[in-house]
Amino acid sequence: MMMNRRKFLTSSSSLALSTYLMSYSGSSLASLIENTGLKDVFKDKFSFGTALSTATLSGLGNSSDQLKLVAKEFSSITPENDFKWANLRPKPNSWGWDLADKFVEFGQENNMQMVGHALVWHSQIPDNVFFDKKNKMLPRSHLLATMEEHINTVVGRYRGKIHVWDVVNEAFKGGRWRKSHWYNGIGEDYFEHAFRFAQNADPSAQLMYNDYSMDNSKKQQSVIAAINQCKRKGVKIDGVGMQSHLHLDGPSIKQIEQAILNYANAGLRVHITELEMDVLPKIQDYASADIGNKYAYREELDPYKSGLPLAMEQKLAQRYEEVFKLYIKHSDKIDRVTLWGTSDDESWKNDFPIKGRTNYPLLFDRNQQPKLAYFALKKL
Ligand code: XIL
Repeated sequence: MMMNRRKFLTSSSSLALSTYLMSYSGSSLASLIENTGLKDVFKDKFSFGTALSTATLSGLGNSSDQLKLVAKEFSSITPENDFKWANLRPKPNSWGWDLADKFVEFGQENNMQMVGHALVWHSQIPDNVFFDKKNKMLPRSHLLATMEEHINTVVGRYRGKIHVWDVVNEAFKGGRWRKSHWYNGIGEDYFEHAFRFAQNADPSAQLMYNDYSMDNSKKQQSVIAAINQCKRKGVKIDGVGMQSHLHLDGPSIKQIEQAILNYANAGLRVHITELEMDVLPKIQDYASADIGNKYAYREELDPYKSGLPLAMEQKLAQRYEEVFKLYIKHSDKIDRVTLWGTSDDESWKNDFPIKGRTNYPLLFDRNQQPKLAYFALKKL
């Protein structure tokens, strides 16, 4: 339903596109339109991914076109929602594997890297995982047993098929432990137990800690300290996922670069896991993606309802180019760059942190056509 409502919009005008393409010499123009995807541009640098939405996996709307586009352009996939606890396991003993299995089938058919997202998170998880019928928090031992059973079941089902797991998602808020139900019920060591359980369930998978605002220095210090502590105890953590919900105006390239260097210097592989570029007026800090933050709709915060002006399209293309140049510069440290969705109509940024806006954060427009930002990356 949501997708249809947004479908009428196109982002860049075809005039803008042809003007842009004409600025290239004959030979690079040919390479821009040949039948290769961005995955081919980056194949010697890092895998290039996207998130598959529930609508796409369910076969709704234009999903078959969307899947064709994904297979052409991307070499890695992450399920946007369908491996989250509430989706996979809405009630304690009722598992719904349908969309998760479809995700894995699609990845196998297209020989893609697959990322499981996310095993232990505070959001999109039913309260009954943590509380009894009288709303009393269940004992630590019970919560640890639930976590272990969940991780064994999910990771075990796809052992050897899913290559990378976001084992813990968003355990820190700024520089402090987030006071999630996991934290409150188990204590700090819920973090290390989650990684231990994941390692036991699939010793060959790459195990990641994933978070937003990973360029924030306080968060960096806490994340690196927690990971180092685990590693000293022999717990395997391979790297960090920098979600990278970025804005057109920030954070700066310098700040992102410093973060990549800091994680790499701590011996961690870096994955860019949920990249997009918000173009709408900001209402909170750059790059924050705290799922709990919601704000009321105001017209002035939704200025591009009938299309994004060319100057903004160009600014977006330039920003994508700068960010990818940085990723390429550090491709020895970065294994993967994943966009949080393929076309603008399906981006969560239309509804976050304000519901019902019209945003343009991705590389394909509402008709699944490549935007200027796409062409800017294709020529890198
Ligand atoms: C978002 C999805 O994109 C939305 O469809 C859903 O309603 C809420 O979650 N950090 C994460 C992702 O790790 O799982 C979140 O995805 C975005 C923020």
